[in-house]
Amino acid sequence: MAKRRLINIGKLYGVTYSNPPKIKEELAELRTIPNAYLEFEDDKISAFGQMTDATAFSGEVYDVEGGIVYPSYVDCHTHLVYAKNREDEFVDRIKGLSYQEIAENGGGILNSADKLANMTEDQLYDQAYDRLNRLIKLGTGAIEIKSGYGLSLDAELKMLRVIKRLKTNSPIPVKSTFLGAHAYPTQFANNKEAYIEHIINDMLPAVADSGLADYIDAFCEEGYFSVEDTERIVQAGAAYGLPARLHINQFTSSGGVQMSARNGVISVEHLEVMTSEDLKSLADSGMYGVALPACSFFLQIPYTPARDLINAGVPFVLASDFNPGSSPTGNLSFVMSLACIYMKLTPEEALNALTINAANALGLENEVGSIALQKKANVIVSKKAKSINSIPYSFAENQISDVFVNGEVFG
Ligand code: NIG
Ligand code: FE
Repeated sequence: MAKRRLINIGKLYGVTYSNPPKIKEELAELRTIPNAYLEFEDDKISAFGQMTDATAFSGEVYDVEGGIVYPSYVDCHTHLVYAKNREDEFVDRIKGLSYQEIAENGGGILNSADKLANMTEDQLYDQAYDRLNRLIKLGTGAIEIKSGYGLSLDAELKMLRVIKRLKTNSPIPVKSTFLGAHAYPTQFANNKEAYIEHIINDMLPAVADSGLADYIDAFCEEGYFSVEDTERIVQAGAAYGLPARLHINQFTSSGGVQMSARNGVISVEHLEVMTSEDLKSLADSGMYGVALPACSFFLQIPYTPARDLINAGVPFVLASDFNPGSSPTGNLSFVMSLACIYMKLTPEEALNALTINAANALGLENEVGSIALQKKANVIVSKKAKSINSIPYSFAENQISDVFVNGEVFG
């Protein structure tokens, strides 16, 4: 049995004794132990408390030298598996084209689908595996990954198999989401109904049968999947026992929040454009509201009105949306900075949204998301930071000295 003890922790953040999502004022509550120790037995947290209460110990000791320790981030919305970057589109946007205009000219998601079609499963896997390891070093301790750049049954299954291999080979929990309804492939451009029927009649049964997906998703947006079509897909998924988490209200408010509330959707994600009716339906529904500020930053679109969601009692979550088109970063310390700077969250609120609340949104709250006995020993160490404020404050600077994954230093 491997035993490790972290000592001289200036502040140990994110201790919980139960795991429900934090809502309203609770979001600002971050239980903290000053001058602390933290112990791991194999891959689990086995003890923690004040240094003055630490008993004799035989095992490996790691001195944090007065720095801080907090639970690893949970990223509940990523498109981590993709073929190539899209930096040409980035330059097109600098020159004045919008994300939607680029998509209408055959760029965007279809560009990624073309690139993915030309890559083997092994190539895709190798790239995604490297990307995932880089994210783990940046503090991600559990992750959700979507398909959605396949847009054909074979290519979607190829992506889902890559995600399955990541699940098997990665040291952190991975959840998988089928996103066949991400865009209409070129051959269906003039017959969108046929693609929706293909998703419902062919893709969903095959995906369900494969056991490769934990959830389904759809890009519910003007020009992509209408509220009615998204509802059909959500209901068809539910019939196969696949719950939905959805891209909703990124560019327009369309009734997607209300439809999601009616259909028992787990989480509505993006929410950059929210009417007061949307806010009320969301608050009444109990769904998670997931904001993706790195996408707002990169596309220069509005930020999700986080404070309104929090005040209304929505379980509020932050995620990266890591993808080659709208958020080419999975750095959640940077997401924390953006949430503080643009959404006016306090560092404590942002950290809870990225840990315990995000863990709840993925059903992983008993495994990760806080410092608690028997949870996974997935934690972030910053020897440089004297308080959690230092993490979002020092934006674009890596304050993380080490991450522990399953009780061991990663990388
Ligand atoms: O969440 N909006 C839809 N999907 C992604 C972007 C996908 C892409 O541009 O490749 C998002 O922003
Ligand atoms: Fe997304």
